[in-house]
Amino acid sequence: MSKVYIYKGFERFWHWAQALLIMFLAITGFEVHGTFEIFGFEKAVEFHRTASWLLIGLIIISIFWHFTTGEWRQYIPTTKKLKEQIMYYLVGIFKGEHHPTAKTQLRKLNPLQRIVYLAFKLVLIPMTLISGILYMLYKTFDENNMVVVEDYPLESIAFWHTLGAILLIVFLIIHVYMTTTGETPTSNINAMITGYEDLDDEEESDEQHKEVNEKTNNIKK
Ligand code: HEM
Repeated sequence: MSKVYIYKGFERFWHWAQALLIMFLAITGFEVHGTFEIFGFEKAVEFHRTASWLLIGLIIISIFWHFTTGEWRQYIPTTKKLKEQIMYYLVGIFKGEHHPTAKTQLRKLNPLQRIVYLAFKLVLIPMTLISGILYMLYKTFDENNMVVVEDYPLESIAFWHTLGAILLIVFLIIHVYMTTTGETPTSNINAMITGYEDLDDEEESDEQHKEVNEKTNNIKK
């Protein structure tokens, strides 16, 4: 085993800031929805709007980071070893089997994580964000201080936004469980805090080496 630098400084900041903002948006959003009362309706609306601007800003910066560093390539989906990875989580893990895919600096996500995180970034987050922005623009004031109501139906905007919120909470619960399935229950969480993870020194196959080398070359380009 040796310590490998997996998650860079910005990546860790972005990950935890996004997690905190989504949890805060879930709390204030469901208070607006009427599920419970913590801050009071008016404050919950104000906090929800402020946090949503912070999340939008964070997402814009993180998109820039993913493209300028080439890290977006980590999310290119693959079906190679996907079945093995799913079977590992469903069966193998309970028999103490080894992870079917080796984690490296240039391949930090397993095939299942690639697909799930890509869907998170390309479907779930945009759906919640766009419906949230449309929600925000639904009732505004013009330059004469007159209320302007958009002509799209608020019910469907609220439906997609609430659905996005529920799916984000489901994602969060499954995600937290999955983080405990690394080498030790806390190794993945520690890696996202310190950046470093203890990984096997096991020799990789020629094929894996080739893939890693190709990716290194692509990232360098
Ligand atoms: C950039 C992202 C987001 C924006 C722009 C946004 C915007 C809004 C707006 C404008 C409302 C209506 C209340 C109000 O007038 O302030 C709302 C409600 C709500 N938001 Fe968000 N939001 C965002 C992200 C989230 C996230 C990440 C969650 C949960 C994980 C969430 C959960 C909710 C819920 C549950 C409601 C109540 C929906 C209803 O009852 O109709 N929002 N959001």
